[in-house]
This record gives sequence, C-alpha cells and structure tokens, in this order.
Amino acid sequence: MTDPIQHIQSLLPPRNTRRDTGEAYAPANIALCKYWGKRDTRLKLPVTGSLSVSLGAHGTRMTLRRAEADALTLNGEAVAPDSRTFRRLFAFLDLIRDPAHRLAIESHNTIPIAAGLASSASAFACAVKALESLYAWNLPPQLRSILARLGSGSASRSVFEGFVEWHAGSSPDGMDSFAEPLAPVWPEFRIGILTVSEAPKPVGSTEAMERTVRTAPLYEAWPKQVEHDLPRIRRAVLDHDFITLGETAEHNALAMHATMIGSWPPVIYWLPETTAHLHSVHRLRAEGLPVFATLDAGPNLKLLYTAEHEADVLRNFPMLIQIDQNPTP
Ligand code: DP6
Repeated sequence: MTDPIQHIQSLLPPRNTRRDTGEAYAPANIALCKYWGKRDTRLKLPVTGSLSVSLGAHGTRMTLRRAEADALTLNGEAVAPDSRTFRRLFAFLDLIRDPAHRLAIESHNTIPIAAGLASSASAFACAVKALESLYAWNLPPQLRSILARLGSGSASRSVFEGFVEWHAGSSPDGMDSFAEPLAPVWPEFRIGILTVSEAPKPVGSTEAMERTVRTAPLYEAWPKQVEHDLPRIRRAVLDHDFITLGETAEHNALAMHATMIGSWPPVIYWLPETTAHLHSVHRLRAEGLPVFATLDAGPNLKLLYTAEHEADVLRNFPMLIQIDQNPTP
C-alpha cells in the first residue's frame, strides 16, 4: 500500500508559484459530541465520529508570505524556532508546501484571550486554507478537511462553519475520515464561555487522549456513549430541539472526563471552580432555567442556552463571555 500521507500529497494540484502571499480565516469550534481517542495517531484517525459548532468570528486569521527563512509571529509576537508551536506548525506545512518554499507567517487569534481557548483546531484549518490561497488552489472540501486533520483532529471540523460532523471512517488510510457541514448556525442557539483559569494545561489534549486510550478501563465504554449521543445530537441540531441537544452534549462531555479521570496517571482538568459552576448549572436547571454545560481538555466551561434565556443566564453568570456564532462576512 502507498503511504497514506504520500497518497494525500499525490492528490494536491500543481502549485501556482507566481503568488507571494496567501491569506485565510478559520473559526474555532466546540464539540457537542466529543472526539476522544485515536485509532491511528500519525494520521489522527478517530475512534468515533464527533459533532461541533463553529465559533463565527472567533478563530485564526493567517497571512503567509514567501520568505528567505521560516518565521512565525503569533498575535504580533515572534515565536522562537525551537518552540513546540513553531515546530509543530512548520512540520505540518512541510506535508503540503513546496519543499523549496520558506514562509513567514503572521497568525492572529481572534478568540478573546480571557476565554482560555488556545485553538489548534482553527490554526491548522487556517494554515490549510492559507496555503490554498498562496498556491491558488480550490481543493475539494473533503480533501481540505483531511489535510487539516493531519495537523490536529479537531481541525478537520474547523474548515467549515456552523454545525459540522466529522465522520470517523473505517479505512486504514483515513480517506473516509473527514468532516462535513451538517447545518447552518441556528439563530437562537447560544454559547458562552466561563473561564476558570487561563494557565497552560498540565497535560495537552493529545497526550491526555493517548493516555486515556492506553490506561483507562472505562475507555471501553466511550464508543458506546458516542453511538448513543451522536445520532441524538445530529437529530436535535436538525430539529432545533435544544433540550435534547443540551442534555446529550452535557452527558457526553462528562462521560469523556470520566474516562480521563479513570486513566493513570489520572488526568483531572477540573479545578474547584469548575465543579462549583457545574453545580450552579444543575441548580439553575432544577429551578427551571434551560442551561447546559460542556467542557473540553481544560477547566473552563462552555454554557449552552438559547436567546430566550440569555438575560437569565447572564444574570447568574455575569462573567460569561458570550460568543457571537455568526459566520464571518
Ligand atoms: C476535548 O484535536 O486537540 O477538544 O488530534 O491530538 O490534535 P489532536 O487533538 P485535538 O483534541 C480535541 C479534543 C477535545 C474534543 C473535541 O474537540 O472534539
């Protein structure tokens, strides 16, 4: 069998070398049914499918310029060539760019810093789109998603806007593991971010995921959880059934965290304030306010609610950062 990455590279069109710059934007995304666990770490093939909603104007904007040497600035600050961020991004670009091309990259995160959402998903999706712009390509959307996946699994979803589903696929070369748009943004649906800590995470998501799959006996239950949750969430998005969506998304996130806590050494992202906020969400629900929570690989919460209850949610969580999910114009 040809190497799957070489096969993907063979599908890339010829590169237009007349352009000097490429520019693009990609939104961050929050998974409502999570991606947790890989069946192939090199190709970033997931054990299960997942489903997310994109964060509109909150994401990554990137400009690539042909240059003498590789360089990267992040929000205006130079990133050291020996840093992990630099090496990871350029190793990824090496999969796609002309090996002779050096690039100077300016990357801007438009996610509020205080939201504590460092987004590798939007960064890798944006890098693919910026290379497309540099080389004057118009890639088939599935190939664009597959390329972004090679950078970070969740980036496969960030090449699209609105509600997006990433199909797990079953082929060993991953050519059937790509994301597709499911539905546009639902105007009444709201997401807010409750920041508990902006400190760097003790364990990155890639490592936490790998450790869970390797050491947590509870992980065996995860594909069954997704088998139950993914079709329900998909249906709820299509039907605008907020309660089913909120209940299933919260259950899914908590079940994912249960698998991490059950790994060894344990991965416990929650801080005392994380638990306190979760209890507040549950108390408010018991009092009749339809608000739900989801969490990723970190201590911060994302609250899910609808426009109708926005004022009540904000009154109870005055520090909530509301995310406008409207796609970028
Ligand atoms: C908890 O996409 O960051 O946010 O593929 O190793 O780069 P890698 O992992 P990454 O993991 C995201 C995990 C998550 C859930 C999700 O976004 O679906």
